[in-house]
Amino acid sequence: MNVYDILHKKRWNKKLSDKEIDFMIKKFYYSEIPDYQMAAFLTSIAINSLTEEETFYFTKSIIETGQIMDYSQVPGIKLDKHSTGGVGDTVSLIAIPILATFNIKLPKLSGRALGHTGGTIDKLESIPNFNVNLNKEEMIDSLNKVGAFIALPLDLASADKKIYALRDLTANVDSIPLIASSIMSKKIAANSDIIVLDVKYGNGAFMTDYESAINLSKTMLKIGKYFNKVIGIIISDMNEMLNSYIGNYLEVVSAISFLKGNYNNFNKLKYVILSICSLSLYLYENYEQLQNNKELKEINIQELLDRYETKIIKKIDSLEPLNKFKEIIENQKGDSSIINDEYKYFTPKVIFDYYSKVEGYIDFIDTYNLGLAAGILGLSRKTKEDVIDNNSGIIMYKRLGDYVKSGEKLMTLFAKDQQSLEEALKIIENSIKIQKNYSNSIKYIYNSFFI
Ligand code: URA
Repeated sequence: MNVYDILHKKRWNKKLSDKEIDFMIKKFYYSEIPDYQMAAFLTSIAINSLTEEETFYFTKSIIETGQIMDYSQVPGIKLDKHSTGGVGDTVSLIAIPILATFNIKLPKLSGRALGHTGGTIDKLESIPNFNVNLNKEEMIDSLNKVGAFIALPLDLASADKKIYALRDLTANVDSIPLIASSIMSKKIAANSDIIVLDVKYGNGAFMTDYESAINLSKTMLKIGKYFNKVIGIIISDMNEMLNSYIGNYLEVVSAISFLKGNYNNFNKLKYVILSICSLSLYLYENYEQLQNNKELKEINIQELLDRYETKIIKKIDSLEPLNKFKEIIENQKGDSSIINDEYKYFTPKVIFDYYSKVEGYIDFIDTYNLGLAAGILGLSRKTKEDVIDNNSGIIMYKRLGDYVKSGEKLMTLFAKDQQSLEEALKIIENSIKIQKNYSNSIKYIYNSFFI
């Protein structure tokens, strides 16, 4: 076997064997193949795609370069929830405590902010002393004691980091088999029994259109099926921020407020949380049958909502999930006094109210740019050493389709300093379109799929 022959084969769109794929990934991971050859390989894949079988072997080889979590000392069904990322995506902070009160075990491995999107780990670190670095024993102990943890992953699917960095530099990020294998290698190595994915589409997501989101979802479902996982996927809209509160501390504040029963203030976020929780409960309750179900089925999310919504709302009203969130924070050494006084640590340095200059309907929000602006206000790092300002962020008072008057307050911006505010304002000015008529249609979630 040699690299040249494999590259030539894929360049002419011929099917590769499991051994050839494994050879490329392992040799690249161990630095026995130079970047330029791997870049050629990834480009051929991005252009010619991979078959289902090739995608499976590609994923398998990546998994084999890292650890695989072992929760055999934790009784019960383990569920992993993951979002492909977006702006104001506060779902994990709320859905994990809710689901933990239904006795599901939730080992939640999360990441930091990436590009214009926020990261659950950064959000949790805005709680003083919250420890996101748990070792294996602490993870197992947390699951047995509290039923959930949210922490940084250990060394899972190690080759993915190296492959992703090269994809990023060579314009090969937006390839469905490469995204699917990247996400699923980490999910399979995380080794939960059930995987629930929230695939976002829209101008603030990786997948900008609905069709691509469906294709990515189907590819990930098939990978999950190959690895004998019970998996469910929701496709949800990211053509505007999900939560009207964008920012690390602001999202923690809003999660606490949601869990205190103020969920009706969070229209779209509430809908996605109810959808994720309903799908999770369905997969959990039907785990045994679904394990043997290898067909790809499409289900209407409304049917699941009809079945579980009342049950979930009752739970939130009982404040059990709020107390569970407190338990999770305390178990990871965080300051849980914020549960009673959520604005306790909110001390933004620069505050700026932004008013509409025109009258009409909010017809378009450039969610990607809004996410970038939030980063500039103080949430993103330009270099690894940069310290982020957890109090930075945006509160939006209007959403897509809302009517605004001239001079009405549209949003409040919180910045780390005046210069960052001014830089962010330049982006924000062009990120919201207000028109006489509303032409957009707000669609939250179309379908969910499960195996
Ligand atoms: N998230 C990942 O982990 N990998 C991708 O390729 C895209 C999004």
